[in-house]
Amino acid sequence: MIQLIRGFKDILPGEVELWQQIEKVARQLFDDFGFKEIRIPIMERTELFKRSIGEDTDIVEKEMYTFPDRKGDLITLRPEATASIVRAYIQHKLFAKDPVQKFYLLGPMFRRERPQKGRYRQFYQIDAEIFGVASPLVDVQLILMLVTLFNRLQVPDISAHINTLGCPKCRPGFKSALQAMLMTVSDNLCSNCIRRRDRNPLRVLDCKVPACRQALKDAPSILDHLCSECQADFTEVRNSLDKLKVPYVIDKRLVRGLDYYARTTFEIQTGSLGAQSAVAGGGRYDGLVKELGGPQIPATGFAIGFDRLAEISGLQTSDYERKPDIYLAALGEKSQSLAFEWICQLGLAGIGAEMDFSDKSLKSQMKRADRLGASYVLILGDKELDEGKALVRNMATKEQTSVSLNNILENLKKVIYR
Ligand code: HAM
Repeated sequence: MIQLIRGFKDILPGEVELWQQIEKVARQLFDDFGFKEIRIPIMERTELFKRSIGEDTDIVEKEMYTFPDRKGDLITLRPEATASIVRAYIQHKLFAKDPVQKFYLLGPMFRRERPQKGRYRQFYQIDAEIFGVASPLVDVQLILMLVTLFNRLQVPDISAHINTLGCPKCRPGFKSALQAMLMTVSDNLCSNCIRRRDRNPLRVLDCKVPACRQALKDAPSILDHLCSECQADFTEVRNSLDKLKVPYVIDKRLVRGLDYYARTTFEIQTGSLGAQSAVAGGGRYDGLVKELGGPQIPATGFAIGFDRLAEISGLQTSDYERKPDIYLAALGEKSQSLAFEWICQLGLAGIGAEMDFSDKSLKSQMKRADRLGASYVLILGDKELDEGKALVRNMATKEQTSVSLNNILENLKKVIYR
């Protein structure tokens, strides 16, 4: 039998209902905050991700699904959405009328990481981006939206971690200080960190290897190297979060795995996902629109890991599963053909109706109605056809109501909607 590809997964009925509910709650929130949905392709030119996410990141170095197409052009299955949304914003000159634009996107992303709980090779993100606002207040608004969404979805044990990565003015000073410190502890760093030390030293701060974490105990903090603008910016973020009563933790090690960030960065972390503690992440990327060929327009955003969110949401799938309103237990050919007409008409009228098509016994039909969780069952056999009436049973209370078969659809509606 052909199995699905490692790291990919099916989302089956029974789980999909929960995903739909999460989507519904998320869409409502985005709508309330003035975000518009955007849909973009799942493949882009490889160059787009290389230039935005950064050549020295794990994603670009080893996790992208990149293929030559039939003409030899390199294309990549999107590992994230931000780069493509920026591309679309520039390509369609969406800034021309008003640079301030807010987008959200739901969809699959692809990264060839080592699969484990909470980490897949095709995973889904709920992504939000704000273009054209330099004020750090919108970063705060994004964090508020994340925390609100997680609360509405009854996610337990979350905390918002925030940091700043400085700007092109002050970050180089921090990088040099960090690099100098890393030189002194090189013997204790893993080979990955040694490589990163020279090319992308900030990423070393994020290494999960215990020996590296220990060696970096006294690493310099970006917070001590900020220029006055970045300092003021980060203070405003903190003051505004305090005002809105959004709890947060300042996490000077939070550096994120993509290179386009500057200033505020944040993650929502949870205690309930084991090693994959980040259920959402984001931050400001003021240089990316220009870097990708557009005007100098500031931007900020986040992405939530949908799969992780579904795993830790307190909502129950069973609360959102649609069950049949009525099951027509039809016995004999005549009843069955009548029942078929009725289930079609009931379906068209928005009433979920099921039946059995293989003339099973009443007992086995009742069992199936029960298994499907039907709210009502109508029993229809020759006797009922002769008498022109049938019994409708309320499966929860066991109460039975006799209904006339004349004008049956209206009579059933009356019972069901009573
Ligand atoms: P990211 O931190 O790479 O950021 O991904 C965001 C979230 O996607 C993570 O916190 C995690 O929950 C989920 N995620 C990432 N990789 C996987 C995986 N292999 N399996 C399951 N879930 C995963 C970004 O993608 C940025 N584009 C976010 C952003 C938007 N920044 C600004 N705007």
